[in-house]
Amino acid sequence: MMKRIALIMMVVTFSCVGVNNLFAADYVGAKRCKMCHMKQFKSWRNTAMSKAFELLKPGERTEAKTAAGLDAGKDYTTDAVCLGCHTVNGKADMPGVQCEACHGAGSEYMKVMMTNRDFKLADIEAKGFVLPNEATCKKCHNEKSPFYKSFDFATAKDKGTHEHFKMRKEH
Ligand code: HEC
Ligand code: HEC
Ligand code: HEC
Ligand code: HEC
Repeated sequence: MMKRIALIMMVVTFSCVGVNNLFAADYVGAKRCKMCHMKQFKSWRNTAMSKAFELLKPGERTEAKTAAGLDAGKDYTTDAVCLGCHTVNGKADMPGVQCEACHGAGSEYMKVMMTNRDFKLADIEAKGFVLPNEATCKKCHNEKSPFYKSFDFATAKDKGTHEHFKMRKEH
């Protein structure tokens, strides 16, 4: 009985602070998504964003860096500010704009994708999945980028992310 009351209180508390606190999803890295999404992976691998970590190394894009007032000879791969937009998790161990930078940390929604072939969008969204929209991109495509000029979601979506392949269901 006491256990049950404690459980109810926990649920109430968690509901108040929001559903995201019910679980902690971890980043798993693009290789884990690759095993089920080979086509998206291959297409993504050819995008500029997949290689965005490289831009932080000295000698990369020297002209653009100098023009933006940065030191083209400096190694920015340990600069927390730069890492925030050039990695998935703000750390060099998850370099570049990988799947989860746009689709959300995957450890929990991946389990749904693995086990329930008929899952609905709401099922994975409840586990941290993100169907990327303009706001997702603007986490990085904003005036805090030393190179920001403008961002048009409609054109950028097809140009920058990965090729899109037919899915089993519509949203
Ligand atoms: C064990 C296989 C498996 C793994 C691993 C996996 N997925 Fe999926 N995923 C699926 C299946 C199955 C679907 C549904 C496919 C369909 O609708 O045709 C899906 C659907 C999706 C969708 C579309 C969802 C929608 O409703 O529009 C996205 C985006 C996605 N996965 C991203 C990811 C990402 C990112 C990762 C890695 C963090 C990942 N998946 C890992 C199997 C997997
Ligand atoms: C985690 C940060 C981050 C997120 C999230 C992000 N981007 Fe980017 N994006 C970058 C960086 C960094 C570059 C610079 C890559 C380069 O110049 O090589 C870039 C470059 C691009 C480019 C230019 C690529 C090219 O080949 O010229 C497009 C288009 C783009 N992003 C679209 C998007 C869209 C659409 C979204 C959301 C669905 C998005 N980005 C989300 C960081 C991000
Ligand atoms: C707020 C997110 C954000 C931060 C912080 C950030 N970047 Fe970027 N970076 C981007 C995006 C997005 C692009 C693509 C161009 C654009 O729209 O700004 C980009 C592009 C670049 C480019 C390519 C520029 C070109 O014209 O070829 C380089 C190099 C780069 N970033 C280096 C850095 C360095 C070094 C830092 C830290 C001093 C940094 N970035 C901080 C998001 C960011
Ligand atoms: C820069 C952002 C971005 C990155 C990085 C990204 N995606 Fe996506 N992804 C999108 C967008 C935008 C859509 C289309 C969403 C919609 O249908 O409105 C999408 C759709 C999908 C879909 C649905 C089917 C399709 O082809 O459109 C799958 C599956 C998927 N992504 C998997 C992945 C995997 C796996 C990776 C990493 C290898 C990845 N994505 C990396 C932005 C991204």
